[in-house]
Amino acid sequence: MKIFLDSADIDEIRAHIASGFVDGVTTNPSLIAKSGRNILETISEISEMVDGPVSAEVAATDHETMLAEGRKLAGLAPNVTVKVPLTEAGLQTCRALSDAGTQVNVTLCFTAGQAMLAAKAGATFISPFVGRLDDIGQDGMGLIEEICTIYDQYGFETGVLVASVRSTQHVVDAALLGADVVTLPPKILTALYQHPLTDKGLAAFISDWEGTGQSIL
Ligand code: E4P
Repeated sequence: MKIFLDSADIDEIRAHIASGFVDGVTTNPSLIAKSGRNILETISEISEMVDGPVSAEVAATDHETMLAEGRKLAGLAPNVTVKVPLTEAGLQTCRALSDAGTQVNVTLCFTAGQAMLAAKAGATFISPFVGRLDDIGQDGMGLIEEICTIYDQYGFETGVLVASVRSTQHVVDAALLGADVVTLPPKILTALYQHPLTDKGLAAFISDWEGTGQSIL
């Protein structure tokens, strides 16, 4: 399962790339707004830093403008994936961009029916938002299970990109279900390293080692 970073913060992305675990990056209009920077400059910079796909989202809601925005974003770098919302116009744009050889990430997916349409529209990735479903008392991971089952059953090649991740358990559950990608807020990627027993065990090893008076180097 690939790990993408869900961020538009250049410094944050740079710091995490050093870990070697970042296979791609996803952004959205809210993350761009939070960065306080120009979208075109930001996406160009991220695309240079990251080898894998970098999702950049269109802002328009009508097909013609979305298509023009998508073409412009795709022209920034070969690894830009154009992100479109799961609407009728978004899927029409997905089909047009996909037919032209552009990678497309269909976002704001909340049902398996929507995911089926995205696959049939040639999406490279579908982004189901698990955390936002959990937030309203629904079963985000249940949606991932449904989509993975349907995609497997029909041989759809669209990658399941688990988005709106809120916890390390979401990451494990996504992996158990066979999702292709998780996109993680930086704090969740950091949390994946951590366990109190790791800290406790390491403190004991360090203390015992110091007692030996030895040095490996
Ligand atoms: C990623 O592509 C999504 O935009 C993102 O994961 C949304 O997460 P949120 O629900 O925490 O805003």
